Amino acid sequence: MTLFRHLALTIKCCYPYFFLTTVATTKIRYKNLLATCWRKGKAHRKNRCRQLLCNLSLSEKQGTTTRKNKRNTMANHSPTTAPTEKISLKINGAEQQLTVATWTSLLDLLREYLHLTGTKKGCDHGQCGACTILLDGKRVNSCLSLAVMHDGSEITTIEGIANGDQLHPVQQAFVEHDAFQCGYCTPGQICSTIGLINEGKAKTLDDIRDLMSGNICRCGAYSNIVKVVQEALERSQNA
Ligand code: FES
Ligand code: FES
Repeated sequence: MTLFRHLALTIKCCYPYFFLTTVATTKIRYKNLLATCWRKGKAHRKNRCRQLLCNLSLSEKQGTTTRKNKRNTMANHSPTTAPTEKISLKINGAEQQLTVATWTSLLDLLREYLHLTGTKKGCDHGQCGACTILLDGKRVNSCLSLAVMHDGSEITTIEGIANGDQLHPVQQAFVEHDAFQCGYCTPGQICSTIGLINEGKAKTLDDIRDLMSGNICRCGAYSNIVKVVQEALERSQNA
């Protein structure tokens, strides 16, 4: 019998023993912990709870700090860590001169560099449409496009769609028709609807369903979203 077969046989025979021992040890430890806590009285139990809560909030804080650090790292890539390029973009009507790492997607540029977090990251793979923005009036999935490819372009995100305090008619229609639940997909749905109107291809309800199929809504608010798009289309045709 080869060494390998010996090894496999040993693991096969010992595995149930190791498994049972681990379960038994954990159970005993857990029982002892409970018994100790119980024996030491109410004050001890309260203290223990407080300690656990402190640990939880500490780890939450550490999580936030780690996330912040990661974001700062992304926004401050020095030329020594990644190749960068200077680009100029008109974002929501304002000219922006930016130095970005060449691999930065439009979505990361908006969210991590410019803190325009209205555009959502869902799948980051072009599957959900949560990141839809208007690029020179056309709807695109910003997660699939590199920022450096769009030097000199004009970008409109959900933050730039309303006119001051006055909502865009499509935004207003979403509110009136209650076309969202959690709202995570809504910025993408709104940008996509405006892009669809600009394209002028949708004529029927089936066209709307087909041409909006790139925007997924996990809450399933589709029936009201379709009503909104239909109304927005009719309004644009009558205007
Ligand atoms: S995040 Fe871009 S398509 Fe899902
Ligand atoms: S409203 Fe929740 S994902 Fe669309």
